[in-house]
Amino acid sequence: MTRGCCICALLSLLCACVGEELTGLYGSFSSPGFPQPYPNNQVQVWNISAPAGHRIKLYFTHFSLEPSDQCEYDYVQVFAEGNETLRFCGEEGKSHESSPRNTVIRSATNLLSVIFRSDFSNEDRFTGFQAFYASEDINECLLKVDGEPVCDHFCHNYIGGHYCTCRQGYLLHDNNRSCTVPCKSQIWTDLSGVLTSPGYPNPYPPMTQCNQTISLPEGYRILLDFTHPFDIESHPEVPCPYDMLRISTAGKEYGPFCGSTPPKSIDTGSYQVCVAFRSDSSGKNKGWKINYNSVRI
Ligand SMILES: *[C@@H]1O[C@H](CO)[C@@H](O)[C@H](O)[C@H]1NC(C)=O
Ligand SMILES: *[C@@H]1O[C@H](CO)[C@@H](O)[C@H](O)[C@H]1NC(C)=O
Ligand SMILES: *[C@@H]1O[C@H](CO)[C@@H](O)[C@H](O)[C@H]1NC(C)=O
Ligand SMILES: *[C@@H]1O[C@H](CO)[C@@H](O)[C@H](O)[C@H]1NC(C)=O
Repeated sequence: MTRGCCICALLSLLCACVGEELTGLYGSFSSPGFPQPYPNNQVQVWNISAPAGHRIKLYFTHFSLEPSDQCEYDYVQVFAEGNETLRFCGEEGKSHESSPRNTVIRSATNLLSVIFRSDFSNEDRFTGFQAFYASEDINECLLKVDGEPVCDHFCHNYIGGHYCTCRQGYLLHDNNRSCTVPCKSQIWTDLSGVLTSPGYPNPYPPMTQCNQTISLPEGYRILLDFTHPFDIESHPEVPCPYDMLRISTAGKEYGPFCGSTPPKSIDTGSYQVCVAFRSDSSGKNKGWKINYNSVRI
């Protein structure tokens, strides 16, 4: 049974205990017996659920409950995931701090629960409350996810959801949010050349996975020089948890590299080198550039 009923059982009160599911796009509910004074020893729960992508707006058109310090006797309590719990009592029109007055409550998600409780006595006769609720579309485009916009480039809200699109030249990643640049696996066969992150020195796109291979004839040895600016998203304690550059040859691995100090030059001793670069969904960093040369052994 409901949480409210548990409280009832614990207090061993003889009480009525009712729960109700409200799923319409809008509606109203009120204290037992409304507009007559509510009985003692009541616990009643209303669980309101709106369609996905909606929030619930709730307000009281009438409010008259026994006032008490911190509303410990009679109260209306509103729970919503992602919101602080609110508790109301007292009477509108009297200067009771804890009455909802003109408060309009909006939930963060599509679920909201309201509990009404009355204790074993009332000194006066209080007429209870009447509440009205309605579903409202959430404009996801105005929200932030971990401090980042919901979409990398463009966000489009519709009733019940949203979708993202990207500027020309970018593709929407499978995560439906990041705008990335597809990276072809490239093979370099010139004896010297330049490799960079996409768009260097402009910030590289999120969710990049770029593998480039330098492949020279046997008998050559490839040398790598990293230039300024070198800028790959890093972390002060964990080595390269977000974005990283890795270099490998048949027998050896270098890196992962990140941060803002270019690595020292590398004499790979090999005629084949793989340069793998990966970025995650956030961050704005300039990237990297490698000048490569070769010497004949
Ligand atoms: C209301 O929701 C709560 C928490 O999600 C649940 O425990 C309770 O059973 C629900 N009550 C009713 C009457 O549906
Ligand atoms: C609940 O959370 C939403 C989103 O975080 C916010 O807009 C709303 O004002 C909050 N409502 C209350 C009553 O705190
Ligand atoms: C991305 O959107 C498609 C189509 O709308 C959906 O099928 C898929 O589950 C979504 N992927 C993610 C990671 O949300
Ligand atoms: C790119 O290289 C990395 C590291 O060498 C490897 O794990 C990954 O599978 C490669 N990805 C592609 C698409 O070739």
